[in-house]
Amino acid sequence: DTVYLNGSFMPSAQATIPVLDRGFIFGDGIYEVIPVYSSQPFRLQEHLSRLVHSLDAVRIRNPLDFSGWQAMITRLIQENRAWKDQSVYLQVTRGVAPRDQAFPVPDVEPTVFAMSMPLSTPSAELVASGVSAITALDIRWQRCNIKAISLLANVLLRQEAVDHGVAETLMLRDGWLTEGSSSNVFIVHEGTLLAPPKDQHMLPGITYDVILELAEYHAIPLRIGAVSEAQLRHADEIWLTSSTKEILAVVSLDGKAVHDGRPGPVFRRMYALYQDFKN
Ligand code: PDD
Repeated sequence: DTVYLNGSFMPSAQATIPVLDRGFIFGDGIYEVIPVYSSQPFRLQEHLSRLVHSLDAVRIRNPLDFSGWQAMITRLIQENRAWKDQSVYLQVTRGVAPRDQAFPVPDVEPTVFAMSMPLSTPSAELVASGVSAITALDIRWQRCNIKAISLLANVLLRQEAVDHGVAETLMLRDGWLTEGSSSNVFIVHEGTLLAPPKDQHMLPGITYDVILELAEYHAIPLRIGAVSEAQLRHADEIWLTSSTKEILAVVSLDGKAVHDGRPGPVFRRMYALYQDFKN
């Protein structure tokens, strides 16, 4: 496979970075994951604008302009066109400098890395059966709206799910639902879709926005507001959304069936709308 590193395309085995890269030393960087369907990046504009927000939030200079990012991504997709659907990963770190927590002075060049992986969206069976999840305390920091590469808490939380043999860990902060370890979470209560508000406790998902747009356009009752642990536990439906998972129904939470233990009617409708929309 071909990757991009600091202006050049090369086989991944040849892409190396210095050990003093601040991404390696401090996790000092940000990233994006963009789904690509039949060579077309999905919601590219939105992903790149979130990338810019993440860069601004951590004060890393944007190394490319919009058309620069677009051209690089187009070439990367082209180089990896053997895969029908892809997931493009972009990462920018603050660069290489002697180890010191403070920003390097004088400024150094950010390290820019991009790769593509085959995108395997959930199988029809998984969509039909739904998945299981557990809950855990949200042990992350207070800037979860930044798509930072420092993901140690997410790694530990996601491994908890794997250790329990389930698909995802849903996080609760002070009794409120925030999101999954690598997904956003929606619930349905009596036909109304409830979505936690975008704030510093969750990543503003690009898929989350698509779901909200589809709900509005198709007049599915929708309320954006904090979701309590009790609301989560008594939900008729629970959904996970992300660029790689699209939408999945959670049918078991902490070992207890969600409603009747099967993906619900609002999920099935939204799943169909999403499939239509992305094509
Ligand atoms: N993760 N919340 C978290 C913590 C995430 O890591 C992600 C995505 C999302 C969903 O965002 P989006 O709809 O824009 O993919 C929410 C990516 C896919 C990842 O880290 O691999």
